Amino acid sequence: MKHPNIKTSLPGPKAAALIHTDRDHVSPSYTRGYPLVAEKAKGVWINDPDGNTFLDFTSGIAVCATGHCHPHVVNAIKKQAGRLLHMSGTDFYYTPQIALAKKLASLVPGDGNNKVYFGNSGAESVEAAFKLARWYTKRELNIAFFGSFHGRTMGALSLTASKIIQKKHYNPLIPGITHIPYAYCYRCPYNLSYPDCGIECVRWVEDTLFRTTVPPEEVAAIFVEPIQGEGGYIVPPPEFHTELHKAAEKYGILYVADEVQSGMGRTGKMFAMEHFGVVPDIIALAKGIASGMPLGAMVAKSDIMVWEAGSHASTFGGNPVSCSAALATIELLESELMENARINGEYLIAGLRELQKSIECMGDVRGKGLMIGVELVKDRVTKERAGDWRNEVIQKAFAKGLLLLGCGENTIRFCPALTVTKEEIDACLSIFEETLLDLGK
Ligand SMILES: Cc1ncc(COP(=O)(O)O)c(C=O)c1O
Repeated sequence: MKHPNIKTSLPGPKAAALIHTDRDHVSPSYTRGYPLVAEKAKGVWINDPDGNTFLDFTSGIAVCATGHCHPHVVNAIKKQAGRLLHMSGTDFYYTPQIALAKKLASLVPGDGNNKVYFGNSGAESVEAAFKLARWYTKRELNIAFFGSFHGRTMGALSLTASKIIQKKHYNPLIPGITHIPYAYCYRCPYNLSYPDCGIECVRWVEDTLFRTTVPPEEVAAIFVEPIQGEGGYIVPPPEFHTELHKAAEKYGILYVADEVQSGMGRTGKMFAMEHFGVVPDIIALAKGIASGMPLGAMVAKSDIMVWEAGSHASTFGGNPVSCSAALATIELLESELMENARINGEYLIAGLRELQKSIECMGDVRGKGLMIGVELVKDRVTKERAGDWRNEVIQKAFAKGLLLLGCGENTIRFCPALTVTKEEIDACLSIFEETLLDLGK
């Protein structure tokens, strides 16, 4: 079984020198959890400049869906780069953008009658959805969720309710957004238990919110992550989206699914919303869509994407090289990787649940496909959050060559490339177990 290979103290001398220069010249707003300098990578393996090899279960924040530098994607990029680098789909036409729009329109849930707007990032996709929802409905209010992350631009940030540091000193943000509790069954905001709860988190919207403070006829859209990502990899119960979608439909409120993190095969289906059987009106995509090339896409039903020429656009959005990378990525997802995410996701979650039997601090193990979270707690009964232990585990795993990321206050996320093999999962599980045993909790 291949394992990480750590030959130096971390960071090694070359990585340390680079980090020193970075500190002098790169924005201090970035949150680097540990000192990894990535020099080259293949699949789920990353080499740093000092010759250390790491096992990557972050895939660059759930982006490198096809693994680092998949040859099919790299070839598509090379081919397109030699043909046409840029022409701006905002003002001109070119093949890869048209081909990708056609593909995405048919891929998302629904009848295939969709149109696509292209941007460069997740935030831009959400921003575009936000603007389209206003443009189409001519309504001013919106609903989003506590724990949600939708991006850092002012519109997307206004919808976000993840960490206070992301909002501090940026007010005033866009008004008219009401944040409501997500369906977080492990910590039910209403202190109820599924399934006896009657999906109170949706009932409350209809029975309280819409009757007291938020007139539903004035709400443009509900922005919701099918599975909450940055908030802690939280999987809502099966009825949550169907019930919420029904409530939205009743009042002509658009249902906007932010699939930036959960989309593109990661959960074992092309879009996480397919697990819930809901057809959203608008879907925001980015991250895994182009295996690491910058690209965002906002897909909406054709009868909703009716804004007029000039009402929204982006110079670089839908760049030909990024679109070609996306087309190659989708080919791989459809031919084998989505299925691999489903099968090996089950394998990974089963392995983690096995560890949970004997490791007390693993309070909750949840996820779909290769979008898996492990919530660490100080006590399984009180569920006291163990954010400090979580951070320690991530540091210790890094020292052993396993790259992990946190999400929420006290959750560790496992979001490897969709190419990950059982052997690579075994390597991850054995290091993770060793790390938790070192922690001694
Ligand atoms: C669900 C979701 N939406 C939007 C974003 C923002 O994406 P980006 O960082 O590409 O702007 C993220 C990023 O983590 C995300 O997870």
